[in-house]
Amino acid sequence: MIVRPETPSDFEAIDELLTSAFGQADESQLVRLIRASDNYVPDLTLVAEENGQVVGHIMFSYITLKNDEEFRVLSLAPMAVTPDRQKSGIGAALVEAGLERADDRREPLVNLVGHPTYYPRFGFEPAGRYGIEPPSADFPDDAFMVQRLSQYSERHRGRVVYPPAFGMT
Ligand SMILES: CC(C)(COP(=O)(O)OP(=O)(O)OC[C@H]1O[C@@H](n2cnc3c(N)ncnc32)[C@H](O)[C@@H]1OP(=O)(O)O)[C@@H](O)C(=O)NCCC(=O)NCCS
Repeated sequence: MIVRPETPSDFEAIDELLTSAFGQADESQLVRLIRASDNYVPDLTLVAEENGQVVGHIMFSYITLKNDEEFRVLSLAPMAVTPDRQKSGIGAALVEAGLERADDRREPLVNLVGHPTYYPRFGFEPAGRYGIEPPSADFPDDAFMVQRLSQYSERHRGRVVYPPAFGMT
């Protein structure tokens, strides 16, 4: 298996992968909207490839963290592995590769809303612990998580504002 940034020739396979992993088209629509925006980071939107087939996909893109200052920080969303290849470490390889690339780019942190039993193994923690708050009270505390990277500082706190693509505003 190799992990590499996505290219336009992968887009159709990614679309199919997201639709089959989630059983709906919302996440492939999210990916398309982010790609079309300034928040897209091609170097941090990765595929896992096995025998020339795309078997996993992960996207890290920019969101805003606001207090008196405003920071552009990363959000991990969405991520998916093709159903018949799940639970074989592909998801973990994608998360780890993305976090390493994000740290290399000197990004301070990664935020996500995800399964509280899956992401802590990579070092994600409840974001509230660091004064990072969701846009509204509708977000379950334990699912709203953050991973601090080496450039993180205590200034990185405040309220997360998602871009319109996320449909959360
Ligand atoms: C979540 C997902 C990306 C994980 O990828 P993967 O390659 O199967 O994950 P890995 O092989 O690295 O890890 C497997 C672990 O993930 C756990 N896991 C998988 N889906 C999970 C879920 N929905 N909730 C909690 N844990 C989950 C498995 O139980 C397993 O845990 P274990 O190691 O304690 O047994 C994949 O299952 C998937 O595509 N699911 C459907 C889409 C989705 O829910 N995406 C995440 C939200 S954006």
